Formats: sequence, C-alpha cells, structure tokens
Amino acid sequence: MKVAVRYYTKSGNTKRLAEAVAKAVGAEALPISTPVTEAVDILFLGNSYYAFSIDPEVRDFVRTLDKSKVGKIVNFGSAAMLNSTWKKVKAEADKVGIAMDEREFHCKGEFKGMHKGRPNEADLKAAAEFAAKIVK
Ligand SMILES: Cc1cc2nc3c(=O)[nH]c(=O)nc-3n(C[C@H](O)[C@H](O)[C@H](O)COP(=O)(O)O)c2cc1C
Repeated sequence: MKVAVRYYTKSGNTKRLAEAVAKAVGAEALPISTPVTEAVDILFLGNSYYAFSIDPEVRDFVRTLDKSKVGKIVNFGSAAMLNSTWKKVKAEADKVGIAMDEREFHCKGEFKGMHKGRPNEADLKAAAEFAAKIVK
C-alpha cells in the first residue's frame, strides 16, 4: 500500500502529529507545499481550525489533488475548541472527486494558553496507533 503524509501548520502542532503518523506508516511527513506527484492509496492530511475554518492553503492544496493519483484522504489534526475539520476537508475533496475515509484522528491543540502541551505524548501515541490501524 502506498501512503503519503502532508500537513499544514501555523504553530507546529499539526507537524508533530504528522511526524507521529508518518513514522507509524513508514512515510515522510511533508508540508502541503510539497505536491503529491506519485500515486498513493492513502493520503493522510493534517490540518486544523483557524478562525472557524481550514486555512485557504489547505483548501487550495486539496483542489490541486489528482483523483487518479489519490485513492482516499484520511484526515487528522487538532483544534482548541472545535471538534474536527473533517466536513470542511470533505467539501473540498468532493469537488475533486476524492473519497474521504470516515475515520479520522482529532485531539486538542494548544492555543493561547488553552490545552497547554497538547498534542502531548499520549496524543502523539494515539495518532500513531490510529494511523497504523488505517494501513493495516
Ligand atoms: C490564528 C489561529 C486561529 C485559530 N482559530 C481556531 C478556531 O476558530 N477554533 C478552534 O477550535 N481552534 C482555533 N485555533 C487553534 C488551533 O486550531 C490549534 O492551536 C491547532 O492545534 C493549531 O495547529 P498548528 O499548530 O498545526 O497550526 C486557532 C489557532 C490560530 C493560530
């Protein structure tokens, strides 16, 4: 199974999750500025909430994906208050005809003194376990 990992981060939280995910699935965690050029069965996409939405860069990244090269997207990320960006990412994935796995990983992410240290070691372990289960 071919797997790729991409992430978008502003303050490093999603990068740390992406590195845990990537290690668990034997891939490299790369920022979304690195296009997906090889065909993959699964694209793990790390992203988080900023002002109640996903960053426009994430939106643009999903829109550039080629459905003949990406089997499905598995969403992961963190946020301070909101639960998950899954629906936002799915709305973009639908536009390019790429399936979203119903399963996702989400945890709290530190923001302005809230949820200090999150994602923490337990979150990173849970993210890795989640990813390993997906590729099993
Ligand atoms: C500019 C900015 C806006 C944010 N807006 C929201 C928000 O609307 N809702 C929310 O739950 N979290 C919000 N957060 C918190 C982030 O989703 C959270 O800190 C996440 O872990 C950030 O991941 P990152 O470090 O990879 O950028 C915001 C964070 C930043 C920096």
